[in-house]
Amino acid sequence: MNVLVTGGAGYIGSHTCVELIEAGHLPIVIDNLSNSSAKSLQRVQEITGKAVPFYEGDVRDEALLDKIFAEHAIDCAIHFAGLKAVGESVAKPLEYYENNLCATMTLCRVLAKHGVKRIIFSSSATVYSGDNEMPLRESSKTGNCTNPYGWTKYMGEQILRDIAKADPEWSVVNLRYFNPVGAHESGKIGEHPNGIPNNLMPFISQTAIGKRDHLNVFGNDYPTPDGTGVRDYIHVVDLAKGHVAAIDYLMRHTGEGVFNLGTGHGYSVLDMVHAFEEANGVRVPYEIAPRRPGDLPTCYADPSKSREVLGWEATHDQNDMCRDSWRWQSWNPNGYDE
Ligand code: NAD
Ligand code: UFG
Repeated sequence: MNVLVTGGAGYIGSHTCVELIEAGHLPIVIDNLSNSSAKSLQRVQEITGKAVPFYEGDVRDEALLDKIFAEHAIDCAIHFAGLKAVGESVAKPLEYYENNLCATMTLCRVLAKHGVKRIIFSSSATVYSGDNEMPLRESSKTGNCTNPYGWTKYMGEQILRDIAKADPEWSVVNLRYFNPVGAHESGKIGEHPNGIPNNLMPFISQTAIGKRDHLNVFGNDYPTPDGTGVRDYIHVVDLAKGHVAAIDYLMRHTGEGVFNLGTGHGYSVLDMVHAFEEANGVRVPYEIAPRRPGDLPTCYADPSKSREVLGWEATHDQNDMCRDSWRWQSWNPNGYDE
């Protein structure tokens, strides 16, 4: 299958390119490199031995998308391209709505124009309303997002759902990711955040390597076993394999499918700190800091629908996540920068 991968140079996209190639597919990447480096795709080639066709540019550029369709017989698209920093989305809402929603709409218009009505969308657990009971099922309540980034995911899903409702030829899969962490076990590709990391795992790795003096643990008075926030961390390679499983589903169904990609296990911030220290024999100094506004105490998936319908489940454990994050960080202290 020839798979158009938008945002394929990014963290999840590059890992998915590897798994697509391993499964016999050809990823064709479009990325504007606003939050990534083309080196990730060179590394994908080092891992797989296969070159990935790459178009540098914006998904909102319809002429560029047409050119890709003219040069490749695309079978379906995986749409990763988007801005993803929660705090930045609060400061720059228009940029987020413009980038994330216009990219999705342009992509769908071009897919339909070329008769390829199949898309997998990177959604997020952030679309679930904060007042649900755990674990979160695909049928749990959505909405009440706390930031513009979350709304772009909520609206992105809705746009695709409406398209699939209006035209029965469309096949749409909305994948709701929980907390992707870790890196490919080769140590060649991984997460390369710009500036100070927003997310826990890159912050832990950068603290362990000495780039950050200590980790701030945002709150230790939540109603959780140790008082710190609980999340469903999922190894990025498991997440990537979830996309390969979703392609099989996409080719056999029409309409909209929605699936959680999580493990079903919740770990607290301090669980992750201690697991990281133990897996890698390093120290992660931390201090308790105030709660971060907008954070939920607990968030984890019920992944049973993905297991039953997609035949997919996560196989990497917490130790794998910690070990592989550290291998990437310690072998590439500056990510893809020299
Ligand atoms: P990432 O920033 O590493 O990858 C996104 C890629 O899209 C980047 O390479 C960026 O340069 C590119 N991009 C952004 N806007 C573009 C545009 N208009 N045209 C072309 N390229 C563009 O992020 P990631 O962690 O790999 O996330 C991939 C997707 O998964 C995103 O849509 C994100 O919102 C979603 N997601 C991520 C997480 C997470 O915690 N990492 C959780 C849930 C959902
Ligand atoms: N945390 C800290 N210190 C830090 C960073 C995070 O204590 O420096 C804590 C947070 O308070 C939270 C947990 O670690 O309890 C996880 O935080 P992350 O920022 O890593 O992840 P979130 O669950 O807040 O959000 C992530 C992505 C969102 C996505 C969501 C669900 O950032 O884009 O997962 O998929 F929507």
